[in-house]
Amino acid sequence: MTPEQMGEDLQEVLLTEEQLHGRLAEMAARIDADYAGRDLLLVGVLKGAVMVMADLARRISLPVQMDWMAVSSYGSGTKSSGVVRILKDLDTDLHGRDVLIVEDIIDSGLTLSWLLSNLRSRGAASVEIATMLRKPDAAKVEVDVRYVGFDIPNEFVVGYGLDYAERYRNLPCVGTLAPHVYGG
Ligand code: XMP
Ligand code: MG
Repeated sequence: MTPEQMGEDLQEVLLTEEQLHGRLAEMAARIDADYAGRDLLLVGVLKGAVMVMADLARRISLPVQMDWMAVSSYGSGTKSSGVVRILKDLDTDLHGRDVLIVEDIIDSGLTLSWLLSNLRSRGAASVEIATMLRKPDAAKVEVDVRYVGFDIPNEFVVGYGLDYAERYRNLPCVGTLAPHVYGG
């Protein structure tokens, strides 16, 4: 695939790099205010949240720690299975910690509601969620999310960490894919 092809595979750009970065700065300012004086642990969910974590964390002024989890709920398709498996667990003991889960997107909410109760059961002092994107019309379970970047329509999106069959993660923007991509 060439750089030109990757661009041509996009149907519509929903959020530009500037919009994403601008919103992350606002979220980081709120996190700085909310967690002042506390010892915050950011937990990124691999692989999709890599870009959000990198760009959010460097806009947070508080000294934070970062750790990573990998969970699987989707395989390589585009539908949520509701079955969550831990592929890589945290290295950090959560006892008494203030934890902020950093996610790329909340779709059905199944993954995050599972993750929330999993991390809460490890004795954390608090567990909250920051997500770059949320699809309100796709919600199957209610998840209390403290920081939301953007609410988007119920369409499959790629870019800024989000993939289709492991591609398009390195697009700096978020967009929908043209039908010819799915058609093979
Ligand atoms: P649920 O449905 O459990 O899904 O909230 C959360 C995870 O599913 C992936 N996901 C997507 N990935 N484009 C993607 O590339 C999308 O539109 C999309 N919607 C959900 C993602 O890994 C997320 O963490
Ligand atoms: Mg994800």
